[in-house]
Amino acid sequence: MAQLLITGGAGFIGSHTCLVLLAAGHHLVVIDNYDNSSPESLRRVAELAGPGASGRLAVVEGDIRNAADLERAFAAAPADQPIEGVIHFAGLKAVGESVRDPLRYWDVNLSGSRQLLASMQAHGCRTIVFSSSCTVYGLPETVPIRETAPIQPINPYGHSKAAVEQLLADLATSEQGWRIARLRYFNPVGAHPSGRIGEDPSGIPNNLFPFVSQVAVGRRERLQVFGGDWPTPDGSGVRDYIHVMDLAEGHQAALDKLMKEAPQLLTVNLGSGRGLSVLEVVRAFESTCGRPIPYTIVERRPGDAAITVADPALASERLGWRTRRSLAEMCRDGWAWQNANPTGYGG
Ligand code: NAD
Ligand code: UD1
Repeated sequence: MAQLLITGGAGFIGSHTCLVLLAAGHHLVVIDNYDNSSPESLRRVAELAGPGASGRLAVVEGDIRNAADLERAFAAAPADQPIEGVIHFAGLKAVGESVRDPLRYWDVNLSGSRQLLASMQAHGCRTIVFSSSCTVYGLPETVPIRETAPIQPINPYGHSKAAVEQLLADLATSEQGWRIARLRYFNPVGAHPSGRIGEDPSGIPNNLFPFVSQVAVGRRERLQVFGGDWPTPDGSGVRDYIHVMDLAEGHQAALDKLMKEAPQLLTVNLGSGRGLSVLEVVRAFESTCGRPIPYTIVERRPGDAAITVADPALASERLGWRTRRSLAEMCRDGWAWQNANPTGYGG
């Protein structure tokens, strides 16, 4: 079993991935500055992973932009079992905020990644799985979207992700031995089926799923559906939602492949290949929670595409991975989390 460094491991996707990796027997060091998360998520991860797992989870509070903090993280691994690979989740992800404060986004997402890669290089660690996003495709010209589609982000968040992707490619060219996976996630949603860990956005959620579940639990009054006149079957936007546990397993598959095979630069979409509309999500959530989700159809949100759906064929071919969980399971598990933790980890 490997010793791994997980940046941003206390966050939404990181916490679920930590659980999957601990269950598989790996040893983890997490570095997180809790900018958008709580230490409570990792306490619950250790609890869910069962007896003995907490001995395989070290947590370092620190910032990936800070070389000394990263040194502490590398030093948290035992001397005879140094960090062999990194999964790099740490970053900022709110599109609107990135438009208002691009300096902060370039700093955390790009400078943070650059510092992490420099620290890895200094420690002779050349295996990294990077959290990229379908946002690098911008407004797609064709759907389903293949990995060969043009990279043309339309906001600072997307630009920063595309820049890190490029940095990783440059590194792979500059020096032999790098094992790199750039994973382009589509729309991660849901929670662990226990309802103990889940997504805990601060403030008003930007994304559909957390907004819908907060309406269901009574924290918000009604959903605004951004556009009812898209060229889609019911007029609302279509996305490729992926259960966060499927996504966590996708990281495990990517890491296993990198560690087993010759050095490579792997770039894959992690999505289901199936599009679901906003109104389909609302109806599915209503039937799970047994409550109406009041909504109003309003103007389209600037920067939105009508349809984004992954072509998941390459992930299946290269990783032997595909999504297994349904929309009903995304709603069931997301609701289990929201209902038991109406105010997230703070409640
Ligand atoms: P999240 O905000 O829940 O998790 C990110 C974690 O990184 C948080 O725990 C945060 O505290 C930590 N962090 C932020 N800046 C840091 C820093 N400077 N040093 C150390 N830790 C820091 O987000 P998430 O949804 O779990 O996303 C994880 C990654 O996946 C991000 O890089 C995000 O851009 C990417 N991604 C997310 C989505 C999505 O819809 N959730 C989609 C595509 C890509
Ligand atoms: C958004 C980001 C994307 C990022 C992704 C992370 C934008 C333009 N895009 O993607 O860069 O990678 O989050 O998950 O912000 N919707 C509503 N009402 C709401 C919220 C959303 O109708 O209150 C609709 C949207 O118009 C869209 C769908 O729901 O059709 C999904 O939206 P969202 O969850 O924000 O994800 P994306 O827009 O796909």
